[in-house]
Amino acid sequence: MNDKAPVYQAANGKPNLLSGMQPSAGSLHLGNYLGALVNWTKMQDDFNAYYCVVDLHAITVPQDPAELRANTRRTAAQYLAAGIDENKSALFIQSHVPAHAQLAWVLNTITGMGEAGRMTQFKDKSQKNGVDSASVGLFTYPILQAADILLYQPKAVPVGEDQRQHLELTRDLANRFNSRFGNTFVIPEAHIVKETAKIYDLQVPEAKMSKSAADPKGLINLMDADNVITKKVKSAVTDAEGSIRFDRENKPGVSNLLGIYSLISGMSIAQLEDNFAGAGYGALKGELAEALVAHIAPIRNRAEELLSDPAELDRLLAKGAAQANELAEQTLATVYDRVGFVKAQ
Ligand code: AMP
Ligand code: TRP
Repeated sequence: MNDKAPVYQAANGKPNLLSGMQPSAGSLHLGNYLGALVNWTKMQDDFNAYYCVVDLHAITVPQDPAELRANTRRTAAQYLAAGIDENKSALFIQSHVPAHAQLAWVLNTITGMGEAGRMTQFKDKSQKNGVDSASVGLFTYPILQAADILLYQPKAVPVGEDQRQHLELTRDLANRFNSRFGNTFVIPEAHIVKETAKIYDLQVPEAKMSKSAADPKGLINLMDADNVITKKVKSAVTDAEGSIRFDRENKPGVSNLLGIYSLISGMSIAQLEDNFAGAGYGALKGELAEALVAHIAPIRNRAEELLSDPAELDRLLAKGAAQANELAEQTLATVYDRVGFVKAQ
């Protein structure tokens, strides 16, 4: 085998990209949208993008089957409604591409127990009920994630800061496989979204907006009705100072509202501070609520429209799965050959 040959080159010369999110709720929240999806839609033109809904990952913690099925379709519909274009990107459901589980098995065999044991997300997630009651699937979650990524030979993997360690493991496994069995995988790079894209909880503005928040009022969901969005913004926690200025440390609530407003409107924080000089928090909340409703309502409506025609949605997902399978099967065939499996006839 020629180790100097490029591992992979897409026919159109563009680099590949892969990312995914778990279908673990009925709605994505504003953090998922501003921190990930907006970025995904921007990257579609410069990359051959593969976006998946990672249902295999979701079952590493207990799921209600009917809810999982509904949430998987709902997540896909929100990707599309937010601007993932099925003509530019392959949008698919992870379980529709068998190679994910197949490659994960091979990668399991080259991952050390100690190496897997160092993953902090497992430590965090298993802490709640104790390591002994966590599933082995939760333990090997990062290895399945490495398989998700490596199948598509991506140069870039857009993820949040919390995924940096999983990306490092993915790179280590790719390098290990390449040096043991010959060049097979492109070494992917984490494309970490900027700090400014981090959205905080409206009720606990020191904490990241997250679906596991204690108080649902802290989260703005893409599927929230207009009046729910308005209510949540108006009850956001601020401070007693009364002046509208950005100061993450001393004014986390107001700074978060300014950060969200800036991302939604395209206006800089300085510009917003200027516009609101002398105004009260009520004015900021009122305007932000209006801007958010104007931004989110079309996305929610489009998602509802897609969900009202499941046959059409499933057809779009089948198209994405066919595109994904084509490349994934090719990569898996090379892997199977390199590790010494007899080719199936
Ligand atoms: P999760 O819902 O935690 O699985 O995250 C899915 C994607 O959304 C990841 O790329 C995260 O980085 C991003 N994300 C989740 N919460 C936030 C947040 N509060 N601010 C910015 N990005 C977020
Ligand atoms: N673990 C990721 C998260 O919690 C989700 C994920 C699974 C993922 N497979 C992926 C992200 C592959 C990027 C690439 O956000």
